[in-house]
Amino acid sequence: MNAKISIDNLIEIVRTGGKIKTGVDVYNSKGILLLDKDILVEKVKILEILKDNGIKSVPVNTVFNGGLWDGNGNLMNVNSDGLIDFEDPDKQIILEPVIESPETDSIFPDVATNEIEMRLLEIEEIKKQATKKYYDAKNSIKKVLADIKNTGGQFDYVEVEANVSDLVDFLVIADNPFSYLTQEIFSYDDYLYNHSINVCAIGTAVVNRFNTHFSGVVDGLLKGHTPDIYNPFEKEGKNQNPSYVTYYKDELSDISLGFFLHDIGKIIVSDEILNKQGRLTALEFEEVKKHSYEYGVDLLDKNHLKNSVIRNIINYHHAPLYEGEERCYPTQAHHTRIPLYARICKLADIYDAMTSKRCYKEAINPINVVTQLFRTYAKKDRMLQYILHAFVKSIGIYPPGSIIYLRNGQMAYVLESDGPLVIPFTDDKEKTLKYKPDPININTSGIEESRKVDSRRSVKAPKDVYDMLPPYIKEITARS
Ligand SMILES: [Fe+2]
Ligand SMILES: [Fe+2]
Repeated sequence: MNAKISIDNLIEIVRTGGKIKTGVDVYNSKGILLLDKDILVEKVKILEILKDNGIKSVPVNTVFNGGLWDGNGNLMNVNSDGLIDFEDPDKQIILEPVIESPETDSIFPDVATNEIEMRLLEIEEIKKQATKKYYDAKNSIKKVLADIKNTGGQFDYVEVEANVSDLVDFLVIADNPFSYLTQEIFSYDDYLYNHSINVCAIGTAVVNRFNTHFSGVVDGLLKGHTPDIYNPFEKEGKNQNPSYVTYYKDELSDISLGFFLHDIGKIIVSDEILNKQGRLTALEFEEVKKHSYEYGVDLLDKNHLKNSVIRNIINYHHAPLYEGEERCYPTQAHHTRIPLYARICKLADIYDAMTSKRCYKEAINPINVVTQLFRTYAKKDRMLQYILHAFVKSIGIYPPGSIIYLRNGQMAYVLESDGPLVIPFTDDKEKTLKYKPDPININTSGIEESRKVDSRRSVKAPKDVYDMLPPYIKEITARS
């Protein structure tokens, strides 16, 4: 059952001893969460607060464990008109159905279903939180790099550690939440700040996914001494348990911190080289290389930081992942000895660099970047295959709230990255549709070729195409 019940009817049910669980989060028109989907409402006061916030009706979705119970604990049936039938026929009360009118609390009165409205608001709420976290993190890396410049190498490790742990707590609940915030980046400084946060966000999501989905398989392979799975822990010796599960659980926060600081050594490389838009000379490339194994590692020493995880990430995030991989450094690093988290850092690094829009290049569509990563690395060894699968599963190629193009030229708003499930909101000439179409799942078999994702075009943020957005998306989307 999925019905919208009037708030007055719900108050009546609770007043007579009944209980309610919506199964769907309830927001006000500004996107503020008023009632969590899992809360069992037993007090009239909660519903009165909703009413005071202008909520006239509330969805109840049994598919998501919502429901209505009468004073005796009997589940009540609600039909799609909002009519409520008590299980006990003697107590049958027909409550007034909600009459939808243009004056209802819905900010999108004629959107196809209530779930879409809720989903749009939910996406916007996550985006708002992500924006705040992103700017906090940006200030943190800005401060680290400025401190290094001003003091000749010192930075406040404790402060950056606290900031990253705050960021990581947020990342765990929202996969790749910062992809909403991609923007044209003109200065190298800004690129470096954004890149540090993105690599931390992507890398942390991949490590978490690897831990939960793949580490057991890889452990099994390690125990079986499968020749194409390398155990990078051998070199660390000291009776280290050669398990990807136990090892990474303990080190997770250090790994995220390492991702955040991976390019810290770039602050020592001259701006002239970093900002150069053409191809680097051999000498310049030699200088850039040093940001990892020389300048980055030196900065850790200067700050007396002995953490081997952070050190490995800084040292090896450009190391080869297979025999003979070119343009990798440090050259003496052998690919079988590169820790898993450093390999993940390298992939997150490449992914972010390619999907970012710079003043001199367009962003590449994420699906093409992932395809390229698979082509380059998946066949090299089985461990890389598992990492890449974790990568694809965790990054959300087309994140909810982003804008993509279909092959027929239509623009679409992504509701769920699974599929993806999208609302196409323009026609094939990029003219905004006057009606609100039903969402389509692009991955469904039978969908015409012309309605699949056009992977030659980059993913956009809603603000990039603000003028073309339909009113029901415009209303909830920030212009800048
Ligand atoms: Fe780097
Ligand atoms: Fe990097």
